[in-house]
Amino acid sequence: MMRIGYILAGARQLLTMRGLAGPRRGRNLGSLGIIEDGALLVRDGRIAAVGSTADIMRRYGRHRAVVDAAGKVVAPAFVDSHTHLAFPAPRLLDYEMRIAGRSYEEIARAGGGIYSSVERVRAGCEGELRSNILYFAQQALTYGTATIEVKSGYGLDTESEIGLLEAIRDVGRVVSPELVPTFLGAHLVPRDSSRRTYVRRVIEEMIPRVAAAGLAEFCDVFCDRIAFSVGEAEQILTAAARFGMKAKLHGEQLARTGAALLGARLGAVSVDHLERAGPKEIRALARSQTIATLLPGATFHLGRHDYAPARALVDGGAAVALATDFNPGTCPTLSMQMILSLACTEMRLSPAETMAAATVNAAYAVGRGERLGRLDAGMQADIAVFDVEDYREIPYYFGMNHCWMTIKRGRIAWSREGFTTDEHG
Ligand code: NIG
Ligand code: FE
Repeated sequence: MMRIGYILAGARQLLTMRGLAGPRRGRNLGSLGIIEDGALLVRDGRIAAVGSTADIMRRYGRHRAVVDAAGKVVAPAFVDSHTHLAFPAPRLLDYEMRIAGRSYEEIARAGGGIYSSVERVRAGCEGELRSNILYFAQQALTYGTATIEVKSGYGLDTESEIGLLEAIRDVGRVVSPELVPTFLGAHLVPRDSSRRTYVRRVIEEMIPRVAAAGLAEFCDVFCDRIAFSVGEAEQILTAAARFGMKAKLHGEQLARTGAALLGARLGAVSVDHLERAGPKEIRALARSQTIATLLPGATFHLGRHDYAPARALVDGGAAVALATDFNPGTCPTLSMQMILSLACTEMRLSPAETMAAATVNAAYAVGRGERLGRLDAGMQADIAVFDVEDYREIPYYFGMNHCWMTIKRGRIAWSREGFTTDEHG
């Protein structure tokens, strides 16, 4: 069965993202390589051929199983390139306080915020944590997401941070979505440590141990006025690079700090958030290979209106990706479809641009652009099928789940019929 494979046929629109190398910039972001009435041959977990249904059926149709996607939209599965999915519990009091008008910083001072998640992790909630990671990874699949970057960052001491990364690794072995681990020890300075001591601990103790155990591909730093300075971020990311961890940054979210310039200069894989980025940051990102990852769900959930300058970033030539930022404080959604709606309505990206930003460019934001995010011969068969006739309906009908089937490495990992374990390809 694996060798023979199967055909996914009859797609009203097959969004291939073919024809261009590398992440999409400027006018190219909206070019989706659509095949009408398209089909794919899936074999050995990869895409073996792409074309019109007539062509693929004529060339490969004999003796092969056909998954009928008639009338539907077939696209690369979403890559959610920025999440804090490994958290122990929702923060419902924070939510109510914010609705009542308190700010993110005020809530943190009142005992909520990131520190309350940290306390819970340190109090020992291994079971809770692993159950959550498992549950959320499975949920993401039902929304068309097949790859999820997951950060640590709710431990803020060596043992707890390693515990979080081990939980991500262990759950990643049993769920269908691919979990990409990122070390975010530099999320905040913990309350029981001075800034200098903590930065030193991150560099001298945590990074070497995380690297030695192979627990993280990326190192991220929350570079902002309430977290780490540009200088501290540079020290931490430079140390991580020596241990083979690639750089990511939370930058320009609450204040304009210069994090984006640092990211571009260091060749970070991505700088994420960018709500406060101005022309200088946009120019620096446009000239770099660094992906500008936008997280409109966080702006929405915080009840703010200062969305990142997405239009200027795209038009200025930066490679823009979209992600959820799924976390208990600023963005409790796993729905990339909802993120697309926000990016269209609030950031004025076109539906086509959001589809590319959430697939091909997002794949580059986790260093997997040569394997994921496009539906072309040789790419991994990570596919989402949506129960709509036109891809623009995905952001248009907002807050709804249009996903009908999610395929990971050729295997039907979820469909509206339920989760499956059958080997289909
Ligand atoms: O991306 N910016 C920092 N970290 C998260 C929030 C995490 C939390 O509130 O638990 C973010 O918005
Ligand atoms: Fe984040």
